[in-house]
Amino acid sequence: NSIREELIESIRTIPDYPSKGILFRDITTLLKDAKAFRRAVDALVQPYAGSKIDQIAGIEARGFILGGAVAHQLSAGFVPVRKKGKLPAATVEQEYELEYGSDVIEMHRDAIQSGEKVILVDDLIATGGTADAAVHLLRNVGADIVAACFIIDLPDLGGRAKLEKLDVPVRTLVEFP
Ligand code: PRP
Ligand code: HPA
Repeated sequence: NSIREELIESIRTIPDYPSKGILFRDITTLLKDAKAFRRAVDALVQPYAGSKIDQIAGIEARGFILGGAVAHQLSAGFVPVRKKGKLPAATVEQEYELEYGSDVIEMHRDAIQSGEKVILVDDLIATGGTADAAVHLLRNVGADIVAACFIIDLPDLGGRAKLEKLDVPVRTLVEFP
């Protein structure tokens, strides 16, 4: 449909970033396009409008931008999931695999109350490693994960399938091969 085409056109592709052979899907061009930004946020939240969502968990860094807007739209709170070492209070942490090596994400231990309904938000799902780690963090503190939402899916990298295996419903707006 046309919203989808409009979103695809607003996303810029940078070849060979951050390394040779990668086609980097850059959402800064979507974000600075007021219409596209609004449409993307509206489309992401549309299935959840009117349902009670307690918290939006946004993944650093681009998930903060979208997650804040989504939280506002759903009258929910916002919880940052950050790279290790950035949060000041007691945290829970989860290691995840990268293409080369591994990394750690953290969330404040008291950010979510057990049983709260949470939607996970990021700009893009690729291998799903980051989102998978975020799901583990959230479930460790008792979150009820309603969905994980992304603007972009790179389906060839298997992230959606990985989350669906954890019984997390996945919502994405556009796909790139
Ligand atoms: C990107 C993207 C997702 C993640 C997706 O973030 O915004 O968070 O990678 O990849 P995955 O599905 O294979 O885990 P990045 O790690 O580049 O961090 P940044 O937003 O802080 O630059
Ligand atoms: N764009 C932005 N972030 C990413 C990408 C991409 O193509 N692949 C993995 N993380």
